[in-house]
Amino acid sequence: MLSTDNSLWLLAVSHAVGLVVIVVIDVVLGILNLSLRRKIYLPSLAAALLGFMLQLGDIFTAPQYNMTMQYFARYLFGLWAFDLLLVLQFAIISFGVAGRGYQRELARRQKTKRARELGYSRRGFIRAIASFAGVIAVVVTLGSVKLPPASAPPSQSSQATQSAQSTLSSQSAQSTLSSQSGRTSTAIKPSGAIANTNNLQVGSPVYFEYPKGYPNMLLKKADGSLIALSMLCTHVCCECTYEPGNNVIFCPCHGSVFDSTGNVVRGPAGTPLPSVLLTVDSSGYVIPTGISGSGPCVH
Ligand code: FES
Repeated sequence: MLSTDNSLWLLAVSHAVGLVVIVVIDVVLGILNLSLRRKIYLPSLAAALLGFMLQLGDIFTAPQYNMTMQYFARYLFGLWAFDLLLVLQFAIISFGVAGRGYQRELARRQKTKRARELGYSRRGFIRAIASFAGVIAVVVTLGSVKLPPASAPPSQSSQATQSAQSTLSSQSAQSTLSSQSGRTSTAIKPSGAIANTNNLQVGSPVYFEYPKGYPNMLLKKADGSLIALSMLCTHVCCECTYEPGNNVIFCPCHGSVFDSTGNVVRGPAGTPLPSVLLTVDSSGYVIPTGISGSGPCVH
């Protein structure tokens, strides 16, 4: 699954680490079951049930990644590796449950050694699940810790902050110049304004959140008009980046490319990026007023 969907490492590191742990546990249990004389059915069944629940539980984390659960479920069930893993876990659970009846039959026929091997108590079963869950939780927590890189490249949000800061500083410089030249400016920055048209340059985007928590980009086009686009990819809501050199928007998760108006240039994304509706006041302040278009990322 990790090889068919490497976006997991970009979008949800904890999920990727969890998946690795589940697979490692499954493989180790498989090897032990094949090689040991005394089989370990109970832990195998517990691990399968836990893996099954975690896989399905993944769907409920969709809002965390700005997606609707319905869309995320459709996406996950569309991955053959996800389906295969689910079917295999379900098969182990089914065999385990069916094996209960077989085990009782063996015990009745006095085949005690084999019956003991297949037998398990409810308490032992719960203890095995809790142990595996503990191992997975610890490894996921450790694997998701982000170590600060020696020299971190500026992130999109820091770029956004820088853009906002440069906008703000040039605005204050402008107002200083205005007052120095004797002109009086009564323009007050309206609440929610994301930039001023006087400070926008072609090819230099301004990043902003609208609504809060949703990344967008404001771009001044060569003809002087403005466009604001959502930066959440319409495939599985990874955050895209703008490439000024090619004037395109690129998604790092599965490689979708959008042109500077939000249209899909290359999939797997199938729908254009939603755009943010804008209004510009008489002083040139740009204010977002709504969203146009749709996609899987909830707004
Ligand atoms: S999330 Fe898959 S291409 Fe963007």
